[in-house]
Amino acid sequence: MRYEVVLPAAGSGKRMGAGQNKLFLTLVDKPILVHTLLVFESDENCSGIWLAVKDEERAFVQSLLANYNITKVKGLPTGGAERQHSVHSCIKEMQAVEVVLVHDAARPFITLPTITELTNVAYRKGAAIAGVHAKDTMKVVEHGLIKETVDRESLWMIQTPQAFRFDLLAQAEDVAEKVGFLGTDEAMLVERLGHDIHIVESSYENVKMTTQEDLIFGEAILNRRKQ
Ligand code: CTP
Ligand code: MG
Repeated sequence: MRYEVVLPAAGSGKRMGAGQNKLFLTLVDKPILVHTLLVFESDENCSGIWLAVKDEERAFVQSLLANYNITKVKGLPTGGAERQHSVHSCIKEMQAVEVVLVHDAARPFITLPTITELTNVAYRKGAAIAGVHAKDTMKVVEHGLIKETVDRESLWMIQTPQAFRFDLLAQAEDVAEKVGFLGTDEAMLVERLGHDIHIVESSYENVKMTTQEDLIFGEAILNRRKQ
């Protein structure tokens, strides 16, 4: 199943504390952003990449695309103040396609089998998102006290990619913008429309490079994959 992917890349990386957009940090041999781009560049089912960027970083991103021979990027729209706005700026510029994936540019370890499964489920059912079972015991805490222990079996930690039929995501984003709803992922916008969203079990390796410790984990993953 062919798809196009939206990669929000217009954040500031505050929690990484690197004093620059964390996506430009080198992980082993290449910037994080390049690792992510190369996954989609190498996927024969991916027919286009949309990257939301900051205006002042566009020229640098374009130089990375040229240096690493990334050819599938169709647009580099200006990102917004929130991640959701950055994604929306891409969706607004895209021509309708069958299936669109949204994937954090900060998750460089996503693999092709997961992408393919998400795309196929989204094509058949409308919406599919990647996630992994919660590993730890989960409790609700209020004012420093345990309120309840939640059944872990039904708890999933949600990642990206999140895959949708293009029309469904575009509609969900338009509605969210109209009513001023801000979600922490795209699925939340689609949930509000009452549409079913399917889970696709992903990998614990599909971590988001968020804080310094994630870089250590990330380098270990890359070095092991190289062996
Ligand atoms: N992102 C974006 N536009 C924003 C905020 C985030 O395109 N206004 C992107 C980031 O570049 C990243 C992805 O969304 O690829 C996931 O966001 P996150 O991990 O929170 O990255 P940052 O917002 O950059 O980091 P922080 O929240 O620590 O500042
Ligand atoms: Mg953020």
